[in-house]
Amino acid sequence: MEIGIRVFRSIILGLAGNRAAAALSRKYGMKLGASRFVAGQTREEALTRAIELNEQKLCVTMDHLGEGVRTEAEADGYQTEYLALIHDIKERGVKGNVSLKPTQMGLALNGERAYLRIRSIVDAAAGCSMFVRLDMEDSPYTDRTLAMVKRLHAEGLTNVGPVIQAYLRRSEHDLRALSSARINVRLVKGAYKEPARIAFPERSDVDANLKRLIRARLDSGVYTAIATHDETIIDWVKTYVRRRGIPRSAFEFQMLYGIRTPLQLSLAEQGYTVRSYVPYGTMWYPYFVRRLAERPANVGFIVRSLLKR
Ligand code: FDA
Repeated sequence: MEIGIRVFRSIILGLAGNRAAAALSRKYGMKLGASRFVAGQTREEALTRAIELNEQKLCVTMDHLGEGVRTEAEADGYQTEYLALIHDIKERGVKGNVSLKPTQMGLALNGERAYLRIRSIVDAAAGCSMFVRLDMEDSPYTDRTLAMVKRLHAEGLTNVGPVIQAYLRRSEHDLRALSSARINVRLVKGAYKEPARIAFPERSDVDANLKRLIRARLDSGVYTAIATHDETIIDWVKTYVRRRGIPRSAFEFQMLYGIRTPLQLSLAEQGYTVRSYVPYGTMWYPYFVRRLAERPANVGFIVRSLLKR
């Protein structure tokens, strides 16, 4: 069973980088189910959804979808969109912050130019007392993303933090350094296709490592976002913090827009901080494929939508 799921994930994730499939799906995909995971194609639609989520006691982190840009002009366009997004979040009084992907800002093209774009966004967010999360992409970018966060902190911009992926064998080491520097981290299982040399192939090992990382962070007292829909881990966290007397103000739960919404609402109702990750934009294809790979049943859902047409 475990091998079957691994092969399934590997095949589906292989589609994430396929440009022909991306172009085709851009035409039909929203109708075929992407709208379940994507809050809208425009900033305005996403802001409206964010305000509705706020009304249901959920905080948000907003993500303008895009990654792996091919030109500096494209990256400039994403930078402009994020600056406008930060402005609008503040102006509209949305209870939220932003998440962005370093390759969307051109990290794969020119590291320094990408850094300067990200710096301008983090700086603008600092002016609005807003946090910026740098999402973690696949392993070629891990070191550079962590280096950017450390550089921003060294330059006095402390309203930024990275994501640590429990499937990577290196993560315990990375997390220790981030905790020593008291940097806000989001912990996740990890969503990309990685070789067994650097990432745990078995889900049980990833789950065990995520728990290890969560425990280390909660014990360190540095603010942590625990981003998972895994109810076993969420229940374990609730018990752990209760036993250790860790205040709820030391951490938050995060989940993706459209996934386990009743659980998000129930945790918020119980008084936990819950942040919903709200993606929007037209470049939703790789994000959508990663969501399909996480759960075989999602592919069945798409096939059923196709058959109904
Ligand atoms: P797991 O995959 O075991 O799922 C537990 C349960 O949740 C499933 O049984 C199912 O019920 C539900 N579920 C999970 N995924 C689902 C889906 N796609 N559709 C329907 N139900 C689903 N990754 C990364 O590499 N870099 C990053 O920066 C981020 N950022 C990020 C932010 C936030 C807020 C979240 C919640 C997640 C990420 N991720 C991420 C993704 C993360 O690495 C991981 O792939 C997903 O969260 C799925 O793993 P779970 O921890 O939910 O557990």
